Amino acid sequence: MIGTLLWTVALLVVFIVAATAAWAGWRAAPYVPTRQHDVERMLRIADLKPGEKVVDLGAGDGRFILTAARDYHALAVGYEISLLPYMVAKIRLWRARLGGSATIVMKDFFYENLSDADVVVCFLTPAAMKKLGEKFRRELRSGTRIVSFAFSIAGWQPVSKDKPNPRTMAVWLYRV
Ligand SMILES: C[S@@+](CC[C@H](N)C(=O)[O-])C[C@H]1O[C@@H](n2cnc3c(N)ncnc32)[C@H](O)[C@@H]1O
Repeated sequence: MIGTLLWTVALLVVFIVAATAAWAGWRAAPYVPTRQHDVERMLRIADLKPGEKVVDLGAGDGRFILTAARDYHALAVGYEISLLPYMVAKIRLWRARLGGSATIVMKDFFYENLSDADVVVCFLTPAAMKKLGEKFRRELRSGTRIVSFAFSIAGWQPVSKDKPNPRTMAVWLYRV
């Protein structure tokens, strides 16, 4: 009896993990973590200052928000809809004991208002970036910086494109 119950719970968890991962891939991008040195490169390019609010759209295992809060003393918020990376991020943030300066929320960022962000970071897909371009124009304050890993925002003029060598992925900086 207990054995059947445990198997049912385990199968349910596996199903939810797989379903939320597939949903995230369909919504904007699958989970592919950015390497830590690229996280640091992006936050440097963003010129993130203490006390600024940085939002990671699709926060994965929380590496951006953790680094931003710990090393830059920023107020970092991440949105993530895939259960497994969300849980990993929760545990990482809890272990880092950063208090309220880094938060991960299990919500779809397309439905969230981004108007209080100073910096937006993302690593998504070209299609998601195109859709976000319209949202950014509607919601972001003038002066907000957007830093995107690998993919540009179609139709937007970047402030800079960082690509130190042919094998490095580009980092695009925009200012609203
Ligand atoms: C390429 S990964 C980047 C993860 C992290 N930002 C990093 O750079 O290490 C994209 C993330 O976005 C998440 N995602 C996709 N669509 C989303 C949505 N609509 N709302 C919140 N998260 C989403 C995926 O689950 C995935 O973890």
